[in-house]
Amino acid sequence: MGELNAFPTADGSFSLHSEHFDEAFHNSAGALNEARVKFAQPAELTRFSSGQTLRILDVCIGLGYNTAVVLEAMPTPAPTVQWWGLELDRRPLELALEQARFCSTWSTSVLQRLISIRDHDGWDQPESRGKMLWGDARKTLDQLPQDEPLDLILHDAFSPGRCPQLWSEEFLYDLAARLAPGGRLLTYSRAAAIRASLQRAGLQLFSLLPVPGERRGWSSGTMAVKQADINVVETGTGWRSLAKMEQEHLHTRAAVPFRDPTGEDEAEVILMRRNTEQQHCGLETTNAWQHRWAAK
Ligand SMILES: C[S@@+](CC[C@H](N)C(=O)[O-])C[C@H]1O[C@@H](n2cnc3c(N)ncnc32)[C@H](O)[C@@H]1O
Repeated sequence: MGELNAFPTADGSFSLHSEHFDEAFHNSAGALNEARVKFAQPAELTRFSSGQTLRILDVCIGLGYNTAVVLEAMPTPAPTVQWWGLELDRRPLELALEQARFCSTWSTSVLQRLISIRDHDGWDQPESRGKMLWGDARKTLDQLPQDEPLDLILHDAFSPGRCPQLWSEEFLYDLAARLAPGGRLLTYSRAAAIRASLQRAGLQLFSLLPVPGERRGWSSGTMAVKQADINVVETGTGWRSLAKMEQEHLHTRAAVPFRDPTGEDEAEVILMRRNTEQQHCGLETTNAWQHRWAAK
């Protein structure tokens, strides 16, 4: 799986760079900052209270930041938590837990859960249970119970260009199908292909607002919601409805999905398949879309 090299991010939190994927685990603006703003904040955990069960799936737990910030943000009194994690590589969490500064970021109870994930593949307490599923997320996702719909999915795979296996239309459909009514899938990706797949999967799209300290951009990610009786408000803490520019992005070549019909293809095969489909799709080029909006 290649080497993992540590690097400090701008908020002082530690992250890793993967040699195999040739990509950093977090942006340089701050691993902790990114986890809080893109995952914990739009999760709006105050929606849940004691007596309810909150079911969470962390796709690509890595060093554990997203799970840790979400567990730290739990309201008091807390709901019952059922957590699942998917991850291929045990090393990122092991490396994180060797860092004194990483460990001191978390409360004792959250740190204990991260340690239990590393040492016991999860934890089991009366009000909180966690189950870590190691392996290719395309396979381990099947081990989640079908009858326990998820309230929150944290999707934090490497970028679609590096790890298209976890951004395929098929994988995203599987995730969407597991969401409870009102359930939210959160990701840092604002890619048109990902958004278009999530939309076709029946989810309503929202744009995450740019994160303080990050390079300025039109969006810092996506919140995709399985609609319930009560609609999600158009603007909330850290998100808004898609702008017209973003909606039009979903009708350009960039929106051609990543396809992995058997759930077993290598990255190169998925990327080549998409490339061929893009050449024959007849959609507006993404450059033309960019120029059109730059001129406005
Ligand atoms: C961007 S990092 C995740 C960062 C993490 N959420 C955190 O807070 O530290 C992507 C992770 O995806 C994992 N990964 C790559 N391919 C995978 C696969 N097919 N199934 C499961 N995990 C995978 C990598 O090992 C890596 O830990």
